[in-house]
Amino acid sequence: MTGAEEDADEGYVRSDEREQDPCPCASGGADEPSIYREFWRDERAQLQRRDYAKLLATIGGLTAVGSLAAPLASLTQVFERRYTGPVYSDGVALVDEDGERIPEDHLENGEHTTVFPEPRPGIADAPTLLVRFPESAYGEGTNVADTVGGYAAYSKVCTHAGCMVSDRDDDILVCPCHSGRFDPLSGASVTGGPPPRRLPQLPITVSSDGYLVATGDFTGPVGPGGG
Ligand code: FES
Repeated sequence: MTGAEEDADEGYVRSDEREQDPCPCASGGADEPSIYREFWRDERAQLQRRDYAKLLATIGGLTAVGSLAAPLASLTQVFERRYTGPVYSDGVALVDEDGERIPEDHLENGEHTTVFPEPRPGIADAPTLLVRFPESAYGEGTNVADTVGGYAAYSKVCTHAGCMVSDRDDDILVCPCHSGRFDPLSGASVTGGPPPRRLPQLPITVSSDGYLVATGDFTGPVGPGGG
């Protein structure tokens, strides 16, 4: 399966849709990127937007207003978070867009997918690219001690202007906004385009019950700035 087919399977924004949904950095300027608007581009955020609309539609039929406070807060946090604190920590599970934990046999070599930290109070979504290659394929730049079973994880938020790194060209991870290119086999180092620095790596391991978990937070700043 090609990267494009995988992305289609994962529900990523298609190239024709992207053309009608220009990079928000074009209006906000690269110095003032908006990670939150980019979350709207991510499929999971789109799902949440639809869920949010459904929730609003049902509010009129609900009388227990107090019970709505918590879910409303959790739904809006994805748009408010500015990545100022730790996202992952030791033992936090990686989950898919449905919240399901990722078993160690989830991907075959050469495949990739998008995962998130298992939700918990105060922590919003943090799209993360999970890739898998033969362990021997990783070269200089990748902290091999932070990989497990051929899996490596990197932030999905482009370090240039905050777009989602949602495309792929062979093994190279590609940001669709300005064709930023990152090599997952060399620590997601920049191999093309304007991104000023690599995607930060997430240290991961396999839990005693066979699921992928973080062993700490990203090893560098997520998204633009912080370089
Ligand atoms: S946001 Fe410009 S290359 Fe990714």
